Amino acid sequence: MPRMSTGEKLSTESYKGVRDFYPEDQFYQRYIFEHMERVCELFGYEEYGASVLEPAELYKNKTSDEIINEQTYTFTDRGNREVTLRPEMTPTFARMIAARLRDIPLPARWYTIANVFRYERPQRGRLREHWQLNVDCAGADSVYADAEIIAVAHGILISMGAEERDFEIRVSDRRILDALYDATNIAPSMRAQVTRLLDRRAKIDDFEQALAAIVGDITHATHIIRELARTTSTAYLEDLRAKLSLMGINNMVVDTSITRGFDYYTGMVFELFDTSEANRRAICGGGRYDNLLNLFGGDALPAVGFGMGDVTMRDFLETHNLLPAYTPASEVMVCVVDQDSVGHALQLAQDLRREDATVSVNVSGKKIGDQIRHADKLKIPFVIAIGSKERESGRYTIKNLATGAEITLPADRIAEHMFSTLG
Ligand code: HAM
Repeated sequence: MPRMSTGEKLSTESYKGVRDFYPEDQFYQRYIFEHMERVCELFGYEEYGASVLEPAELYKNKTSDEIINEQTYTFTDRGNREVTLRPEMTPTFARMIAARLRDIPLPARWYTIANVFRYERPQRGRLREHWQLNVDCAGADSVYADAEIIAVAHGILISMGAEERDFEIRVSDRRILDALYDATNIAPSMRAQVTRLLDRRAKIDDFEQALAAIVGDITHATHIIRELARTTSTAYLEDLRAKLSLMGINNMVVDTSITRGFDYYTGMVFELFDTSEANRRAICGGGRYDNLLNLFGGDALPAVGFGMGDVTMRDFLETHNLLPAYTPASEVMVCVVDQDSVGHALQLAQDLRREDATVSVNVSGKKIGDQIRHADKLKIPFVIAIGSKERESGRYTIKNLATGAEITLPADRIAEHMFSTLG
């Protein structure tokens, strides 16, 4: 017996912390992705891809305890393998480069837009599935590679209409922390834990106490905090600033509170931060990781990159009023006045599509007024009604639904008219 008639209705809600993309959402998603892709390609980055499934092994003890222990979706498959839905793309990138290290011309400039999964408490800017642009460069260790990676992130925001005052590039360097840990005698075994705590500093009420709990006592904690505050920049970061400035990028600030949560960073780390009070968030984050590829054996390979999320990007664009108006899928709806005109309408639609116009045909058989109202609801800009008059004359009246303006033209002038009106 099919189990359909228990009377219980299925919920239409999506799984907690993930999104459905209705056509308007998908439209904005695509708008964002297209700009990301275009800017990556302007910098010569090649697109790659991989499965969302990875062996759980790839992440264990290698990236961030918080993410691995508390935030991964991990399950055992039917063949008893432990599988993880990727919580980030960097280990996959490193694995793929390591697998073909001999064949891949270096430096490798690669990008992908991938969905990643983290079991987080859903809140503004944080979901359980998000799409993340990953831009990484492997096999280059100069300050120019660091500057280029930052320039890509910066270029994406600028390409969507942002100005430098809308966001800042907050940069620091893991080597500042290494020097600090040496100077304040923090045991190597504690360092990753302290770094992760520093990354969450703004969210912790009594930071000094939390730090003391790791390093042993409050005097030591106070000493560390004071030492960190004393570092305002380094020669390397000033060199980076100079290189960015050569590229016309002038909104970098050194911020030693940027530490980043992942253990694998070894050098420059950065985040793009919204400067609006209404959206105090990182839009993207990344940095240099020169040792991650060692995990796969073979030679060390320097790498640098960043991840930029779609959720934080959309919040940023909304905050600064940078989202374009929704453009519906059809430029024109061809409506049918009487059943004898259906064939003619279908043909006209095909002719217009050949000229690259997007066309939907209304074969509902409803009254013409209802058909036009339907087009209006879908925000389709033009309608053409086909009846006996149009069939006989071969001339069509194109109505602009926003202005009410009408113009009567032969078939081969319609597309051109619509394109010039839409601009
Ligand atoms: P991440 O800082 O964890 O870095 O993530 C990068 C960006 O992804 C964040 O700035 C944010 O825009 C977005 N993001 C992260 N978690 C969530 C979430 N739960 N919901 C919505 N958006 C989120 C990384 O993942 C590194 N693997 C980036 C990287 C690439 N480093 C080097 N290469």
